[in-house]
Amino acid sequence: MIRKTPRLQLTEAERAAMRAAGRFNAQLMDHLRPYVVAGVTTESIDRMVYQYTLDHGHTPACLGYRGDICKFPKSCCISVNDVICHGIPGDYVLQDGDIVNVDITTIVDGWHGDQSETFLIGNVSDEARQITQCAFDSLYRGIQAVYPGCPVAVIGEAIVEFVSKNFPRFGVVDRYVGHGIGQRFHQLPNIPHVPSRKAYHDRLFPGMCFTIEPMINGGCVQSICDSRDGWTVRTADGKWSAQFEHTLLMTESGVEILTLTQHGPQRGHVF
Ligand code: MF3
Ligand code: CO
Ligand code: CO
Repeated sequence: MIRKTPRLQLTEAERAAMRAAGRFNAQLMDHLRPYVVAGVTTESIDRMVYQYTLDHGHTPACLGYRGDICKFPKSCCISVNDVICHGIPGDYVLQDGDIVNVDITTIVDGWHGDQSETFLIGNVSDEARQITQCAFDSLYRGIQAVYPGCPVAVIGEAIVEFVSKNFPRFGVVDRYVGHGIGQRFHQLPNIPHVPSRKAYHDRLFPGMCFTIEPMINGGCVQSICDSRDGWTVRTADGKWSAQFEHTLLMTESGVEILTLTQHGPQRGHVF
């Protein structure tokens, strides 16, 4: 049963269900990995997400997901270059030099796993590589900052400190945020990557699941949501943007990453 207001602190059995959802979602990411290359359409990657998820008896959470204006039409988000997030897979053919974020969310026995990676296609510019590195390191700075009972704001504080010191020309997106996750795709608390006032009051207690998913822009943080499709979010200045995301579980002894892949970039990876 899904409650109207989900209880945020999960039992041991519920934690096990979230671990299984995260594990399957990561397995899907590893399955896709060899196909995210120059020459393929983003739609062909989406079809693999759909097929693999169904073949394993699970559900793609993005397909038909309800936004403010319209339902999301595909099974994952694929965001290329200046697209910050919520890109809709289509007939675009990946090119050498692109950076492409693949964001997948699956429902396994009623529980959600949510993660994304930015892939470098062939030879990318130094600038694009740095944006990607900055987003990846920001995710791990956020993960490293949390502890049982911590205010949510420690995540944004760590990310903003890291980016302003090491990549002062880049922008940390504040309009789109991480989120609590469980039997709902998106639930409380919001997990901003730039500390908000509310994030100083919200706390991460043992048994809570949430995502960290920083989006880093090569320039300004302003964004424009495509009015034709209602979803695609692009940088206002046309500079490129990168993102990484994990689903996490806070426990009594510290945070657990539920969506670790076998073959993807691991903590400390240099792009
Ligand atoms: N996966 C995104 C997130 O990390 C949300 C995508 S919603 C969709 O929260 F409808 F665009 F799929
Ligand atoms: Co996601
Ligand atoms: Co998410």
